[in-house]
Amino acid sequence: MVKKLLSFLLCACLLLTVTACSGGGTTDSEPAGTKSPESRSNQHDTSNQPENEPDASASPSENEPDQSSDETTSGSNILVAYFSLAGEQYEVGVIEKGNTEIVAEMIADAIGADTFKIESTEEYPTTYDGLLDISRKEEDDPPEIADTVDNMDDYDTIFLGYPIWWGDTPTIIKVFLQSYDFSGKTIIPFCTHGGSGLAGTDRTISGLCPDSTIGEGLAIRGSTAQNDRDSAKESVTKWLSDNGY
Ligand SMILES: Cc1cc2nc3c(=O)[nH]c(=O)nc-3n(C[C@H](O)[C@H](O)[C@H](O)COP(=O)(O)O)c2cc1C
Repeated sequence: MVKKLLSFLLCACLLLTVTACSGGGTTDSEPAGTKSPESRSNQHDTSNQPENEPDASASPSENEPDQSSDETTSGSNILVAYFSLAGEQYEVGVIEKGNTEIVAEMIADAIGADTFKIESTEEYPTTYDGLLDISRKEEDDPPEIADTVDNMDDYDTIFLGYPIWWGDTPTIIKVFLQSYDFSGKTIIPFCTHGGSGLAGTDRTISGLCPDSTIGEGLAIRGSTAQNDRDSAKESVTKWLSDNGY
């Protein structure tokens, strides 16, 4: 009963979140978020919880997130850095490749960029409920990133990808942004989400990297990235082209 009530509240709040979001990025199905930092300071109230439960048909499986790091040094001055989890995810059930990772690969393929998968030293749970739980704890106990980009100086543009968590970037993205000097570099955000769009995360990034240029972000619904890759690719291609790539 309580769970149903919570789900209802979450759905209602998602609707509010989506309505409150506007501009600031490109999205395949929902307006990009521009919630004010003030409004996001309440992001862990029930009013900003992830809006819904995963598909009831989703069942936990043995699938582990791909933990392999994929840094390469092709000579490109563009890096696609991303955080993404496989396992059980909202709306898509149990997946072998994270939604954001799918988009990250599309971007890297299209522009011939290097990639770097942001991974924690601790493995994440592979259930949605487990992720809801750990994601809240991380706020007070930030994760450690397993690997480093040794040649960050070589990159002047970083496409930064992440899922929306609680109407914001996951904490590990903040840790990543605090781990390097991004002054003078361009950071272009992209995310996958369950309905919130970018949710103002471009402002989270600019807050942490005040001396960087933040490009126009892209928001793609996780279920589109996972299950309608042609449509996701079309959005990626158009966004890249609109931004001169
Ligand atoms: C802990 C957690 C919190 C989430 N919070 C939101 C949210 O606030 N808004 C939203 O639209 N989607 C939310 N989602 C859904 C994810 O953004 C979405 O499923 C995303 O595509 C997952 O990407 P990934 O497979 O690359 O990790 C949340 C998911 C998790 C696990």
